[in-house]
Amino acid sequence: MKELMQSLREASLKAITEAQDMDLLETLRVKYLGKKGELTAILRQMGQLSAQERPAMGQLANQLRSDIENAIEARKTELSAALLEKKLRDEALDVSLPGEKQPIGHKHPMYNVLDQIKDIFIGMGFEIVDGPEVELADYNFTKLNIDEGHPSREWTDTFYFTEDSSILLRTQTSPMQIHAMETRELPIRIIAPGRVYRKDEVDATHSPMFHQIEGMVIDKGVTMSDLKATLNLVVEKIYGKGTVTRFRPHHFPFTEPSCEMDIQCHKCGGKGCPTCKGEGWIEVLGAGMVHPKVLAGCGIDPDVYSGWAFGMGLERLAMGEYKITDLRLIFENDVRFLEQF
Ligand code: PHE
Repeated sequence: MKELMQSLREASLKAITEAQDMDLLETLRVKYLGKKGELTAILRQMGQLSAQERPAMGQLANQLRSDIENAIEARKTELSAALLEKKLRDEALDVSLPGEKQPIGHKHPMYNVLDQIKDIFIGMGFEIVDGPEVELADYNFTKLNIDEGHPSREWTDTFYFTEDSSILLRTQTSPMQIHAMETRELPIRIIAPGRVYRKDEVDATHSPMFHQIEGMVIDKGVTMSDLKATLNLVVEKIYGKGTVTRFRPHHFPFTEPSCEMDIQCHKCGGKGCPTCKGEGWIEVLGAGMVHPKVLAGCGIDPDVYSGWAFGMGLERLAMGEYKITDLRLIFENDVRFLEQF
């Protein structure tokens, strides 16, 4: 019997220390210590022993039971520690690994220029306003003193929606002058950037859709020198201090007097180069003093109030600033182009 217990001890302790999971440990516990287990089977033979032998054997059997129990407990602790270790290792987050890059894009170069201009005008107390691209001919032309029969009203130049030429895609942002004068309290200081449309074929400098920024000031005692000073300041902020401007007389039906403003070519300093097409000057915008007829048409007394307005092309400005030579690049949205800015 002693030998039986000795071999059970060896076999059971070996199996327990080698067990690789909890389920197997439980199976072993039942196998050795359960009601039908191997130790129980040995104990059943105690009856055959003599009274002298029994206590010693009983003690031996108890010792074996508790040794097996302890071995199982010890192995359980080992296994659960190993399990925790493995779990920690498997679920570890390596924060030093670089993440997956999500391309998020960036602002279009033309909108960079627009934001720059907005900032400059906001700094001078102007408000940014927005208005309809589908416009009444009344606002796009008539109220701006552009009569029936003016060439810009031709069907070959303008996108009309109606046979009677009363509704159109605005050809300029100047109707925003009328909207502002009709709806806002005086004095008025606004800029109105937006899309405009003309029936032009697409080429390196033309597009049927492009952007303008309209600007307008109406107040008492506003003069042409305010217009020049303001625009000179804006140009210096965009192109740098000391940028030379030139105001050429021009004609617009809704301003009197009217002018166009050029800047001396920032590339060649006025000598003439490909950027300025040999001219030495680059045309930037049209402007002038708001025509008294236009003021009066909007219910503003031209004897009390005066004002100026300008309109500039945003694409051309962006092309100048970023040295873009083809207008089409601005609208094609080819990321190989856009990512350069
Ligand atoms: N609207 C004119 C154009 O498109 C520009 C302009 C605006 C001129 C305001 C004078 C005053 O050419």
